Amino acid sequence: MQTIHSIAELRAALNAERKAGKRIGFVPTMGNLHTGHIQLIHQSNATADITVASIFVNPLQFGENEDLDAYPRTMASDQDKLAAADCDYLFAPNIEEMYPNGQVIQTQVEVPGISDIHCGTTRPGHFRGVATVVCKLFGMVQPDVAIFGEKDFQQLMVIRRMTEDLFLPVEVQGSPIARAENGLALSSRNGYLSAEELAIAPTLNSTIRETVKQITAGRRDYAQLQEEAQDALEAAGFQRDYYSICRRHDLQPPTSTDSELVLLAAAYLGKARLIDNMIIDI
Ligand code: PAF
Repeated sequence: MQTIHSIAELRAALNAERKAGKRIGFVPTMGNLHTGHIQLIHQSNATADITVASIFVNPLQFGENEDLDAYPRTMASDQDKLAAADCDYLFAPNIEEMYPNGQVIQTQVEVPGISDIHCGTTRPGHFRGVATVVCKLFGMVQPDVAIFGEKDFQQLMVIRRMTEDLFLPVEVQGSPIARAENGLALSSRNGYLSAEELAIAPTLNSTIRETVKQITAGRRDYAQLQEEAQDALEAAGFQRDYYSICRRHDLQPPTSTDSELVLLAAAYLGKARLIDNMIIDI
């Protein structure tokens, strides 16, 4: 695997691959890679001839009081993991390469509506930061296909919408949530959890599964179900963020006739903010 830091070098390498008729797959990440990221690399390898991963901890998508400084930077072990997974190129730009005009007075990509609810309420500006950096990365890598984890369900919707609205010639694929055996969704932020918190963390997923079971069994009192779940999470040691049963196509509250739903949840546990979701087909 070749590690590249500059856009010029990346373009030269990928132009040569494109000229040789290679289809390019892309997996954007912020590093601190776990099995979930490696699953994305495998999916890219299976659908494209060349896989490019990127590692860039994007300041634009972190709020003022969030974990930008604490976010784990583990470049050497990430490189080993990517090489072992047969990734062809790692693109790791620095901040000047990504934001040559600074982070304030520069073009930003806004995907309105969908960016302002759920995670967007708790993290204002987060999805603008994500859409902006992913748009830039798409321009740099010019992939045929890009793969994103479905754990960040709302992020995937924002990126799909941006790609569609801007007519970007990239196929956006989702990849199923990678979980530990106890159900905990794998996340770089799980590293913030103490041993005691790690034992509590799977309750987020078991609570979601319990809510889905109740819906499948016929309950439609969604507001009450949400409240019961929030209480259960608090009793287990979490602090509330949001717990929302939504329509899948627009993430708005469902009516009694909606049948394609998704449950999105986020909750704080110690220093970590954990998110998870589950599809519900009624
Ligand atoms: O999901 C992530 O790791 C990030 O939000 C992404 C898509 C790499 C953009 O910085």
